[in-house]
Amino acid sequence: MFAVALLRSKVFVWTILVLPGLWPAWPLFVRQDPSALTDPLKFILLHFGFVACVLLATVLTFTPLRVLFPKWDIALALNRHRRLVGVSSFAYALLHFCVQVLYVYDGGFGTLAKEIQKPFQLTGLAALVILLILTITSVNALIRRLGAKRWKNLHRLVYLAAALAAYHQADARKTFPMQVVWIFGPVLLLEMARVWKHWRGAQRSPLKV
Ligand code: HEM
Repeated sequence: MFAVALLRSKVFVWTILVLPGLWPAWPLFVRQDPSALTDPLKFILLHFGFVACVLLATVLTFTPLRVLFPKWDIALALNRHRRLVGVSSFAYALLHFCVQVLYVYDGGFGTLAKEIQKPFQLTGLAALVILLILTITSVNALIRRLGAKRWKNLHRLVYLAAALAAYHQADARKTFPMQVVWIFGPVLLLEMARVWKHWRGAQRSPLKV
């Protein structure tokens, strides 16, 4: 199937992951959109934060999709790119943080230190630190060194990172952005379905548990 072959292709997935990083050039330089040009750095800051959240939520759907539909080729193809998509989420979150540093830089780091003490920025920082740890420990040599069980336990922190990122995104605006529900809602539903499938399996064959 063409879609499966496309999703298996590293070139295609890399393209999908890099394009959102280049997207701000379109409204800023090509279309010269006044709403983006009013405050270009802020526009880029929000855009990178948004992409980081979307990629984080996307990678969290891969395992539940594979568990729920073990024979579905698309779910299997997507699972080949878990590490790449997870690391990309960290890369966009880091870019988002760097833009925030540029945004508040006034010749010193005093403003940054003051800003970062806001609760929504602290949750962003906590999420970023977790994503950094997960990225570092995704290197093959470290996976081997940690061992499968410890690595899996450590990487469960991704759920905490997602919860922190969702809170950060919701709290960044004065009114609750429905975006958070569209981005993280599907992950929650898929995880609930996964737990339900596991629970039903355990009920049917209690000796295996
Ligand atoms: C040290 C780390 C971080 C800092 C200092 C930070 C800072 C900020 C700031 C200043 C805003 C803009 C708030 C406004 O509208 O004025 C923001 C929004 C946002 N951030 Fe972060 N952030 C951090 C980490 C993260 C991480 C790790 C993610 C995602 C994984 C993220 C995702 C977002 C999103 C989605 C928004 C809202 C975008 C929108 O409203 O369109 N941030 N952040």
